Amino acid sequence: MALSSNAQGFILLLAAASLLAVTEARTVVVGGSEGWRFGYNYTDWALQNSPFYINDQLVFKYDPPSDANSGYSVYQLPNLWSYINCDFSEAKLLANQMQGGGDGFKVELTQWRPYYFASGEKDGKNCKDGLMKFFAVPLPRWNN
Ligand SMILES: *[C@@H]1O[C@H](CO)[C@@H](O)[C@H](O)[C@H]1NC(C)=O
Repeated sequence: MALSSNAQGFILLLAAASLLAVTEARTVVVGGSEGWRFGYNYTDWALQNSPFYINDQLVFKYDPPSDANSGYSVYQLPNLWSYINCDFSEAKLLANQMQGGGDGFKVELTQWRPYYFASGEKDGKNCKDGLMKFFAVPLPRWNN
């Protein structure tokens, strides 16, 4: 039986994905040397550092509140709408203001779904004005 062109396309896609998928999970510091701070463009950062794969780890590194900053945090937002609007009413706190120190706070991307991250401090200002939000959709790995 001949495969439909849809099935052929799908198999090609799988083959391409398996070529692209890196073998080792990556550990990526969010923002690189900038870390997690007010005013850095994390949407842009996420674009530059894509694609992410399932089992990659994101590391959020940030200073505790001080005279220089009023504190950051890491929330996971439930959907695109809350992400766009920086609405934290249904958001889940992953890391509080103190948890970004040392080696940082790690999140493993375990599922094939969008992950929406944002800092929830300053009544949403971190997210709205401080650009402290991004999303990642980790791709499946086919080779392990
Ligand atoms: C942040 O980066 C994104 C993606 O490059 C861009 O579309 C957006 O305009 C930038 N935002 C600001 C405020 O510079």
